[in-house]
Amino acid sequence: MNKPNNCIIVIFGASGDLTKRKLMPSLYELYDKNLMPDAFAIVGIGRTEYDDDSFRVKMDKDIRTFTKSKKVDDHDLKKFLSRVHYLRMDPGKENEYRQFSQKLNALSMTIGGPANIIYYMSTTPRLYRDITSHLGSYELNREESGWKRIVFEKPFGYDLQSARSLNNHIQNYFKENQVYRIDHYLGKETVQNILAFRFANGIFEPLWNRNYIHHVEITAAENLGVENRGKYYDGSGALRDMIQNHLLQVLATIAMEPPAKFNDKSIRDEKVKVFQSLCPLLPESIPDQVVRGQYVASVINEEPLKAYRLENDVPEHSMTETYAAIKLFIDNWRWGGIPFFIRTGKRLPIRITEVAIHFNKTPHHLFTQEFQSIANDNLLIIRIQPNEGLLLRFGMKTPGAGFQIQSVDMDFHYKDLINIELPDAYERLLLDCMQGDATLYARSDAVEACWHFITPILDAWQNNPSIKLYGYPAGSWGPKEASLLFSGTGKDWRYPVESLTDNSKLIEL
Ligand code: BG6
Repeated sequence: MNKPNNCIIVIFGASGDLTKRKLMPSLYELYDKNLMPDAFAIVGIGRTEYDDDSFRVKMDKDIRTFTKSKKVDDHDLKKFLSRVHYLRMDPGKENEYRQFSQKLNALSMTIGGPANIIYYMSTTPRLYRDITSHLGSYELNREESGWKRIVFEKPFGYDLQSARSLNNHIQNYFKENQVYRIDHYLGKETVQNILAFRFANGIFEPLWNRNYIHHVEITAAENLGVENRGKYYDGSGALRDMIQNHLLQVLATIAMEPPAKFNDKSIRDEKVKVFQSLCPLLPESIPDQVVRGQYVASVINEEPLKAYRLENDVPEHSMTETYAAIKLFIDNWRWGGIPFFIRTGKRLPIRITEVAIHFNKTPHHLFTQEFQSIANDNLLIIRIQPNEGLLLRFGMKTPGAGFQIQSVDMDFHYKDLINIELPDAYERLLLDCMQGDATLYARSDAVEACWHFITPILDAWQNNPSIKLYGYPAGSWGPKEASLLFSGTGKDWRYPVESLTDNSKLIEL
């Protein structure tokens, strides 16, 4: 793989959690794998009082704690940290950009060559507008002497109107090809593999449509609660936090048409068509197609689990959903009439993200009723995490007398393919950004199309108090009312367990 060109990576919000847990460990991993440019500099920006040395000491500790590599090499880490700098400034204040601009000039001399710069927005989204305009005022967006790219962390907007207005604001200073809206789900190996699985094989794509598929389930379950993010989460909720971005992106990867070429334009063109084809949810159909829930206190394995409303920084009468499930349809030739079920929640029994494709039953019933249902249980599971892999379930004859059918599984696990850990999504995305490849980043039209679909649900929840927010015991699979989304299909949600293949290890509720 070619190394990226020399560049400077500026992280706004350098004293925050994301820098500590993801950005710096991922940049170090890239360095360790010899994938960083020959000359580079990383500048952390924040209001917290550090200088280069004290920031390096902090990063040393954070990298050792959060990096995936089994063993951090002391010598390598020291060399990496010698390229890390810190500038204390308030990124919301325009006049502080003078010293910032000087710092960038000085650093570009040290790395030689053109001043290629990535600005990574890891601050509160409230600062996104100010930072972009201040960069513009100091002409730090101009590309005469090296490319300039700007990365935005989620949330990108709060609803359709705010996302549109943010896009319009950014476009005053940066062209779309300079803007990288990150969605870390797109950087996950297993999500990228959906494209390879679908388009590098001749055997699945012919079945990948309404003629052979009965329904599709997308689940992102988390066993943790909101931890120390109550303040952010209460203003967001499950729909904004997970579905508007990550899970709709997964949906598009499953549902998109084959791209004309394997490049950012073609792939993102096909994805946006999926978002634009989502059947809009009408206010009267929202109570039947969307279920929201919030976890209440419970005891699991003798361990008491708090109610959401008792979490830190959460108001005691909060109506924020910690669980959301949607039944949606894609109005196009391939998928017309096929239901897609999406659910996500905090404090569910386990952490699992997967896509389950349920195939149609056989058109001819050769076997007795008892075995017919097994024969009709053709299922493909794409396990995004953990135990990353794929499973295909079909019916086989049980050896011996008679004609008994049993369900069998064929499975593939990533860990059997490579003996290294799967890279963190941020590693892949940061490298792509340095290389100028935006394929795995969300384009402005896609972000707006997703908000266009989600905003009516948010409005209905806000304006119609008769739409219930169901309580569910922490540690359970969410409100039982979510099963009503399957009414009339004769099906229900899958209740996956941690192992991809061993269903005998059921979870105790
Ligand atoms: C983040 C959400 O974007 O994704 C979190 O803000 C969520 O609430 C996280 O926990 C899930 O990501 P992952 O990679 O752990 O599935």
